[in-house]
Order: sequence, then structure tokens, then C-alpha cells
Amino acid sequence: MSAAVYVVSIDPQASTVWWANRITNLPFDFSQEHETPENLKVLKDTGAKVHVVANQKGGVGKTTTALNLAAVAAEVLQNRDQLMHVFIDTPGSLQDENLLLEALKYAHDVIVPLPPEGLAFDPTARTIEKVIKPSGLPYRVVINNWDPRDGKVDLHGTEEYIDAQGWPRAESVIRRYKVHARAAVEGRVVTQYDTHRVALQAREDFFKLALELGYGGAA
Ligand SMILES: Nc1ncnc2c1ncn2[C@@H]1O[C@H](COP(=O)(O)OP(=O)(O)O)[C@@H](O)[C@H]1O
Ligand SMILES: [Mg+2]
Repeated sequence: MSAAVYVVSIDPQASTVWWANRITNLPFDFSQEHETPENLKVLKDTGAKVHVVANQKGGVGKTTTALNLAAVAAEVLQNRDQLMHVFIDTPGSLQDENLLLEALKYAHDVIVPLPPEGLAFDPTARTIEKVIKPSGLPYRVVINNWDPRDGKVDLHGTEEYIDAQGWPRAESVIRRYKVHARAAVEGRVVTQYDTHRVALQAREDFFKLALELGYGGAA
């Protein structure tokens, strides 16, 4: 277990899912704080970088992204004894906007997962324009769940859409792999995957993204 990384969920829905009940298997500290979001206040004084993973559309990959980026950061920073990165997983609904706003108060930046599906575009735009931009925090949109077997049309269309909005976009793309969905059910994160080829490819995406976002550095 790395002391350098901590994941907090403030998604009320999440307390019923696998990872909230299998905390012992995770390679980082974890807590569920939707009932006491004001507890997040202490994060300000830890010196750690606080990353909020947000999109008010459900099912876009917030939890997948938060847990796996945390897992990668924990692996890279396993010998540090100081808290360096906190990832806050947030609700995918408009009703819980107050929880998201609370998390943004303590954040240094925001990661916005977006699948290459037109249906997700409008809710994502709302989150960015109405919630994230007003916070003044730096943010980045990350395309998640792109299936390479579908070809590049949807991927490029999504990249063009993001760029046309003027939103900062991560170069790294998280591809769709069954192993991610399976791992979610089994309570595993990318650094705990088997080492067969496909699992390594799936894991590579999160390592690339973590590198791009600067989670491995000395900062
Ligand atoms: N890159 C991916 N490849 C395969 N399945 C994914 C990927 N990203 C998300 N999923 C699956 O899609 C579903 C929704 O993802 P989740 O991270 O729970 O979204 P959110 O937290 O935004 O609601 C889950 O079943 C998850 O395992
Ligand atoms: Mg979630």
C-alpha cells in the first residue's frame, strides 16, 4: 500500500459497489466521504495535489479513471512516505452537484473523462461550462472507452468536438478493454492485472495518461 496516494469517493451511489467493500485489496488508501464532504478540507494542508475526476454524466469512466490513475501513481511512487496525490471520484448526476462543488473547493485540477459517443457530449459540456470553468481550476478532457475495433471515425470526431469547444484535451486515450470492466467486478485495478498481452495494453493506457499528467515526477 502506497502512502503517496489516496482516493476519496463522494459519490453516494458508489458506497454499494465493489471497491468500496474491498478496500483491503487496493494499493492505496481509500475512503467514502459523501456524507461528510467537509472532511475534504484537510486535504488543503497536506501539500498533496488534489485531482477531481468529474463529469455529471454517469457511466463515462470517472471511477475507472480515478482508481486506475491512483493505482499507477501508487506504483510509481511506492517508496514515498509522503502523501503526493489525491483523487476524488465524484457523482455522475446533476442532483449531487453540491457534492461536486464542495470537492472543487479543495482541488488543484480536474480530469473529465468523455467516451467517444455523441450522447455524452451535451452533459459533459454542461459540467465543463457551468461547473468546472466557473471554479477557475485547470482541467483536461480525457477520451475514455474508445474501442479500436470501431475504427478512428468516432475517436477523431470526439477529438474535433473537444478541440472545437476550446477545451484542453489529453493526448492519451484510454481504450476500451473488457479487462477493465471485468476488473471492476473483481475488485482489481490495472496494476493488479495479469501480464498477458491485452492486459498489458490496457494497463499501458493509464501509465501513459499518468505520465502525461505528470504523476510520476518529483513534484
Ligand atoms: N476503458 C474502458 N474499457 C472497458 N470498460 C470500461 C472502460 N471505462 C469504463 N468502463 C466500464 O464502463 C462502466 C462505467 O464506468 P465507470 O468508471 O463506473 O463510470 P462512472 O464512474 O463515470 O459512472 C463500468 O462498467 C466500467 O467497468
Ligand atoms: Mg463512478
